[in-house]
Amino acid sequence: MIIDVEYSSLNYKDALSASGPKSGVTRNYPFVPGIDAVGKVSQSSSDRFNIGDEVIVTGYSMGMSVYGGFGAVIHVPANWAAKLPANLSAKEAMNYGTAGLTAAASIKKIIDNGVDKDKPILVSGATGGVGSVAVNILNKLGYKVHAITGKNTEDQFLKSIGADSILLRSEFMENPTRPLDKAIYGGAVDTVGGDILAKIISMIAPKCSVSACGNVAGMELNTTVFPFILRGVSLLGIDSAESAIEFKESIWDLLSGKWKVDLENSSKTISLSDVGEEIKRILNGEQVGRVVIKHGE
Ligand SMILES: NC(=O)c1ccc[n+]([C@@H]2O[C@H](COP(=O)([O-])OP(=O)(O)OC[C@H]3O[C@@H](n4cnc5c(N)ncnc54)[C@H](OP(=O)(O)O)[C@@H]3O)[C@@H](O)[C@H]2O)c1
Repeated sequence: MIIDVEYSSLNYKDALSASGPKSGVTRNYPFVPGIDAVGKVSQSSSDRFNIGDEVIVTGYSMGMSVYGGFGAVIHVPANWAAKLPANLSAKEAMNYGTAGLTAAASIKKIIDNGVDKDKPILVSGATGGVGSVAVNILNKLGYKVHAITGKNTEDQFLKSIGADSILLRSEFMENPTRPLDKAIYGGAVDTVGGDILAKIISMIAPKCSVSACGNVAGMELNTTVFPFILRGVSLLGIDSAESAIEFKESIWDLLSGKWKVDLENSSKTISLSDVGEEIKRILNGEQVGRVVIKHGE
């Protein structure tokens, strides 16, 4: 299927793909990154889509080994595409992008598995793409949200998207991680991994859940079995890129319906010529909110 891309978006994985083969995302160059795309079908041999249909494509091999949404045209299998829901614009779809899909999948997974609504839910990497959408959605769903951030300049941003309390990363990590700490959180969406995830796990209330999707703070996880065997805590892995298209469609239904949040103020729109600067920001851990790439500008 061939799609004329209207918008793409910038995710951490795109920044890695744009950094060359050592980052481990893309092997063969020259290459066109972009794990997200929304646009109109211009050629299709699939029964599911007609010419002119608006579709969203996220993940699978797109932007890793198949040319992605930073290009104005993509050529992908039809079963990688979801129909753009009626009550979601193309721009709104890319305000979410893979980051939003991942945030929603993470939240759905912890809620389905068990959280304590009377206690706050913790979100790490809270100003980043996945983290900021997670804060937004959890707030919309009525949870108290505690946001961990490395930035001491973004309190206002975090409050504006629904954080009830802001924890500076250095303060959160100040005391050594204990096998079991005070169980004050009713669940968590971790987007960073490493020592921060280990500390989060030690603070989760009995029978509650933590999702893990990222590794910007490290890929190693040094924890003990105590939170799992003495509190029944669950650690749930998220791999949104490779999820079945039916699962992605169910998440897009939530994001365009009951869970819809307005990300217009936490998303900036750029043209492709400005993407280099934004890639530097994301690699330095400095990105705030989402970056949408508009084609044809
Ligand atoms: N498994 C999946 O399906 C999936 C899907 C999408 C993304 N991801 C992963 O999720 C992570 C976040 O992606 P993203 O697109 O949201 O990236 P992003 O926009 O760059 O956000 C990452 C945020 O993490 C925090 N951070 C950065 N460096 C850090 C460090 N050294 N230690 C602790 N925190 C740090 C920063 O937020 P603060 O300053 O607010 O702390 C940063 O804004 C990445 O690892 C990405 O690969 C996984």
